[in-house]
Amino acid sequence: MQYEELLELVKSRRTIRAIKPDPLPDEMIGKLLEMARWAPTGFNMQPMEFLVVKDLELRKAIKEIVDDYKNSDFFALEATREKWQGSPWTIETHGRWDCPLAPVNILILGDTRRRVGLPMVARYSQQKGDSIFESSLSNAFLYMWLAAHSLGLAAQPVSAVKYPKVLGLVKHLLNLPDFVEIYDIFLIGRSAMEGGPSPKLMRHLDEMTHHDRARDDEFLSEEELRKQIMKLRAGNVARHVEADRVADQLGMAK
Ligand SMILES: Cc1cc2nc3c(=O)[nH]c(=O)nc-3n(C[C@H](O)[C@H](O)[C@H](O)COP(=O)(O)O)c2cc1C
Repeated sequence: MQYEELLELVKSRRTIRAIKPDPLPDEMIGKLLEMARWAPTGFNMQPMEFLVVKDLELRKAIKEIVDDYKNSDFFALEATREKWQGSPWTIETHGRWDCPLAPVNILILGDTRRRVGLPMVARYSQQKGDSIFESSLSNAFLYMWLAAHSLGLAAQPVSAVKYPKVLGLVKHLLNLPDFVEIYDIFLIGRSAMEGGPSPKLMRHLDEMTHHDRARDDEFLSEEELRKQIMKLRAGNVARHVEADRVADQLGMAK
């Protein structure tokens, strides 16, 4: 594959939150896992493990845990936003959270015991050790996402699994031992989005690239930064709304 093809794949990958419940063939799931297996990891420690959840009752239970959390703690904390961020999301303005019941949930896990394989400097720095471990899992996550996209599949991460209540309940549900960390959950299936996602707002390359010694004025001011955050966030909200609209039209779980 040449650069242009790879760039096109990367540019067209999107988060698709409207997912059809139709099952996926095992062969396709195998391809997602195989791609993620090849992700580069710090010192080649390969801390990742994958948990493929197809069982309907388990998928429903995960959905319930996540939706409950989102409809309570998420909105409760949103109310504490600073003024500059505009009105907080509420159930009234945004609607109740309702994750799609995708045909497969793939959990990207990390076996923390593998950290003993890191060089001693990383063992004595919790921060460095964490960073290598998390980045390695993040690579597997991204490889899987790109694989899903290349196969024409929709994928949505469910990072809420990082919050203690969700994490504890999901780990208990799935009988995961203490030494296993959940990096993220992917909901994967066929897209239910008509016409594809809206264009993506991206920062300009010039604004994020710096050369040699940085000048004092080449980073955005606090005010510019906040304005930009609001713009990027508005784009993201628009996509949530679109997913809701499509899912409603199809009369299916989002
Ligand atoms: C590390 C990470 C975690 C994310 N977690 C969630 C999530 O929990 N729920 C969700 O709907 N989207 C999640 N997303 C999707 C982002 O919101 C999305 O990638 C971003 O808005 C850019 O849009 P795009 O993926 O369509 O390019 C996550 C993305 C990343 C990279």
